[in-house]
Amino acid sequence: MTIPEILETLDYGVAPETSKPALDWIAAHDGKFQLFINNEWRDPSSKEWFDSINPATAKKLGDIAQASDADVQDAVKAARKAFRSWCQLSGHARARYLYAIARQLQKHSRLFAVLETLDNGKPIRETRDIDIPLVARHFYHHAGWAQIMSTELRGYEPLGVVGQIIPWNFPLLMLAWKIAPALAMGNTVVLKPAEFTSLTALLFAEICEKILPPGVVNIITGDGRTGAALVNADVDKIAFTGSTDVGRIIRKATAGTAKKLSLELGGKSPFIVFDDADLDSAVEGVVDAIWFNQGQVCCAGSRLLVQEGVAEKMYRKLKARMEKLRVGDPLDKSVDIGAIVAPVQLQRIESLVQQGIAEGAHMWQPSWSCPMEGYYYPPTLFTNVAPASTIAQVEIFGPVLAAMTFRTPEEAVKLANNIRFGLAASIWSEDINLALDIATQVKAGTIWINSTNLFDAASGFGGYRESGFGREGGKEGLFEYVKKSNVESQKSEVSKVKKTKAKLKDTRPLTFDLRPAIDRTAKLFINGKQARPDSGYSIEVKDANGTVIGEVGQGSRKDIRNAVEAARGAVDKWSKSTGHGKAQILYYLGENLAARADEFAKRISQQTGADAESAMGEVEASIESLFTAAAWADKYDGAVHNTPIRNVTLAVPEAIGVMGILLPDDHSLLALCRLAASALAMGNALVIVPSPIAPLTATDFYQVLETSDVPAGTFNIVTGDRDELAKTLAEHDDVDVVWYAGSADGQKSVQTASANNMKQTWVMPVSGDLPEMDEILRHATQVKNIWVPYGG
Ligand code: NAI
Repeated sequence: MTIPEILETLDYGVAPETSKPALDWIAAHDGKFQLFINNEWRDPSSKEWFDSINPATAKKLGDIAQASDADVQDAVKAARKAFRSWCQLSGHARARYLYAIARQLQKHSRLFAVLETLDNGKPIRETRDIDIPLVARHFYHHAGWAQIMSTELRGYEPLGVVGQIIPWNFPLLMLAWKIAPALAMGNTVVLKPAEFTSLTALLFAEICEKILPPGVVNIITGDGRTGAALVNADVDKIAFTGSTDVGRIIRKATAGTAKKLSLELGGKSPFIVFDDADLDSAVEGVVDAIWFNQGQVCCAGSRLLVQEGVAEKMYRKLKARMEKLRVGDPLDKSVDIGAIVAPVQLQRIESLVQQGIAEGAHMWQPSWSCPMEGYYYPPTLFTNVAPASTIAQVEIFGPVLAAMTFRTPEEAVKLANNIRFGLAASIWSEDINLALDIATQVKAGTIWINSTNLFDAASGFGGYRESGFGREGGKEGLFEYVKKSNVESQKSEVSKVKKTKAKLKDTRPLTFDLRPAIDRTAKLFINGKQARPDSGYSIEVKDANGTVIGEVGQGSRKDIRNAVEAARGAVDKWSKSTGHGKAQILYYLGENLAARADEFAKRISQQTGADAESAMGEVEASIESLFTAAAWADKYDGAVHNTPIRNVTLAVPEAIGVMGILLPDDHSLLALCRLAASALAMGNALVIVPSPIAPLTATDFYQVLETSDVPAGTFNIVTGDRDELAKTLAEHDDVDVVWYAGSADGQKSVQTASANNMKQTWVMPVSGDLPEMDEILRHATQVKNIWVPYGG
């Protein structure tokens, strides 16, 4: 197009970025890319290679190695060896390495940007201005965390070797999100890029080769088979970003293996527009929400929820804007939407769009057509979308927006939450009161107010529900890469109390005078009432000498269902009650337990044979735990993250929801008070399964609950077979998280069953020391990051 023609039509001219430096880099490797293991480049032992294609032209860019099982093992071995010295380095030394990587990334930023665009098809404007700067920022930010780890994460240590599997939509950015925190915390890494987009990871490996000691970062390319081999290898953690289906497979494969796991999965995020919103800004927001990266974004605002009164106006403005969007060569700097990553993804988008039309939604696309060469799809708007239809529920991962209307804020929240995912949400209103009120009610890990798709290394990112668990970025993200060290702080709570209780000198077992012992059957405790077990069966409870001392109900699937229903009914109100209010109830529990201290000490002694000092020590420690939980109820603060735009990013710890807790065998009362009270303090509603060794402690506790104003449904107790009830809880779709103390087989079964609705799990040994308070509180909450921009 000539300049006079441009002036005539006021159309954009072409502004192509040269691909030469990136193509030269490929040519310098003869178009063939090996595996990067132990700072060496090697052919795959399988001798298998696959093509990497430029989606904008459908032309081949190079051959990529398919890593075999043996290659994966070698990479893990190299990382294991490197870990020994890497974890010994000072935080400062690691910070210097991360800093050096960040500098290198910046120095070669344009090469990375062009290569990413060639390999993925995303516009150069995005790779140049968003992806690559954020990558460098991630390494700088985490260099800082390495530097201050010893003071800010005191008592924590690295996990070891981390296996990381990433998708194709933000190839280098996802690599940075995974590698930077892992290295900062002292782990070593084996990373597998997605098979469609391996090139920038390999260019990154060249930086590692120059800077890092051998084995600290290993990059192995390959498809899902390589990913599966890495999941099954001898690694201490798997960090995965990708589809919910593969996330589910990985959850099952790692169940019971003690491998730590974080999953960042799919989404179908709502973009909510209230009638007082600045509609022109909201339209620009939609462009960034669903047409950024061709809509291939896990947190894309793919469901537009508009308040009825402004819906038609919003659609009109949106269509006018869509008409002006430019789809085409991603290397052209004035192109808005580039190419779809691969034919298989294009077909998926096309078939879901056809399904939307078949289901009765109205489809609208701009009048212009897409380039014929390469894989392109136009921006698409669906209106008249039924909330339960496929295009409203399924992640399309393409430039397709499904619009629905609502009348009231309550309806908006219901529609927003009417989905199995919970990754992000965007809320548009000029009324900050309304916007923040909705932000607290939408179930999602990140909320953007009058903004969308903002990311930064200082802010955690991750999902609720089937969008996965774990956070990447922010201080909260660091905990995915560390574990508690084996230090003094791990000493048993009871023994600590014993030491300080010099006045209790009597070490004889306590005599037991609760009667009648045998014919009293403790019931279950559901929805604030004692309830008979549905099975009609009871289980005998024996003392330390094998003598029967009572019976408890044998809870069943039906009882768990009732308890979960009660918890679900209570959790909303409980989680929204003030921290102060929760604290009051927890203090009250402590007070009422103290009033019955003798009775509980006797019960502990009777069931376990503990001597008087230990039993009383446990009761004292339990009362203390209730007080600690009460103290935290109004003090477990979030953070205001220091993200680099004019905004406040509020990191708010929230209750997870309905929680199943299977208690350990040791310290029956302390475990109940410590685990359950902390979970309650954070706003969760509980279904507790006491240990089969000492269930009477929990059933005696009903009376404490009944006298302490604990709201009905927040604290339910079901006695019975631990593993059977655990499985039921883990399979239940309305349970959000399960904590399980029990056998290795039981742990595996819980984690496998949890894959159904991707619920979080936390497993611990059946006996031994209880976890520390900070760990318990962290597992009882999930962080929601709310971005609130301000100023012009
Ligand atoms: P995917 O989940 O299959 O691939 C993601 C990564 O997992 C790739 O590196 C892949 O090689 C690896 N992988 C595949 N199977 C594996 C296995 N059994 N064990 C271990 N690793 C395995 O995603 P895919 O097929 O590329 O895209 C399919 C759909 O997934 C998309 O249409 C989109 O809806 C969704 N998706 C979501 C992403 C997100 O960020 N939430 C990213 C990519 C895809």
